[in-house]
Amino acid sequence: MRIIRTIPELRAAVAEARTTGASVGLVPTMGAFHEGHLTLMREARKSNGLVVVSLFVNPTQFGANEDLGSYPRDEQRDAAMAEAEGVDIVFAPDASEIYPDGFATSIHVAGVTDVLDGASRGAHHFDGVATVVTKLFGIVQPDVAYFGQKDAQQVLVVRRLVRDLNLDVRIEACPIVREADGLAMSSRNVYLDADARAQATALNRGLDAASALAESGERDGATLVAAARRVLDEAGIRPDYLELRDNDDLSEVTRLDGEALLAVAARVGAARLIDNHVLKGG
Ligand code: PAJ
Repeated sequence: MRIIRTIPELRAAVAEARTTGASVGLVPTMGAFHEGHLTLMREARKSNGLVVVSLFVNPTQFGANEDLGSYPRDEQRDAAMAEAEGVDIVFAPDASEIYPDGFATSIHVAGVTDVLDGASRGAHHFDGVATVVTKLFGIVQPDVAYFGQKDAQQVLVVRRLVRDLNLDVRIEACPIVREADGLAMSSRNVYLDADARAQATALNRGLDAASALAESGERDGATLVAAARRVLDEAGIRPDYLELRDNDDLSEVTRLDGEALLAVAARVGAARLIDNHVLKGG
């Protein structure tokens, strides 16, 4: 496995692999790997001749009061884990390689970024994500890029920008990987002390309660959301948002007909966590 830090070297390595007819799979990450990331790498490994994992803590998607400075970083550990999954290249550029002096462009995806994390974290967040993902697609030119359903809104933002900008890349969304007690894996779970770690299980338990109600035939959106909110209340969690939304355009859903996204974000102890379930109606 190679660790590559510059865009020209990365382009040369991808071009060389292309001469053998290899398809290229890209897994964009910010590192601090856990099973969620490794699952994406395994999916990429199954279907591509060349697997590139990008490891870049993207400053532009963090707000001024967010955790850019303290975000967990351990490149050696990450590289060893990627190598064990059979990854070919870890692309780990410095910030100045991605955002050189004079960098002046930003990608804004309208609509789907107005709600949920776009509203809660601010517009800068998905502008930063959309800009860095577009750049990674331009740099690596992958056939397929792998994203986790854990960040469901991110998947919708990326799908929208790929369609709108006619980017020639297929987007694969992979299911949420969870701890044994249901907590969605996240690089930010390391911020949780023992009490907060126990409290955090309420997020998935709340979503589970709503899913169970939907499976038993409940179709009223407010009733489904209330079932999840009750579990959060009991755990003492006041979510940033807990909303049922259309799984394509994120418009409000008041009645569950097809599929809808029940998404939650909450501060638990020192971490801000997100989770979601896709609820299925009739
Ligand atoms: P990061 O948080 O490192 O996540 C990298 C990828 O792993 C994302 O697609 C995310 O959805 C996926 N992932 C994280 N936890 C997961 C879990 N428990 N189960 C399944 N997949 C999971 O998301 C980002 O980085 C950045 O925004 C990025 C796309 C790299 C742009 O900077």
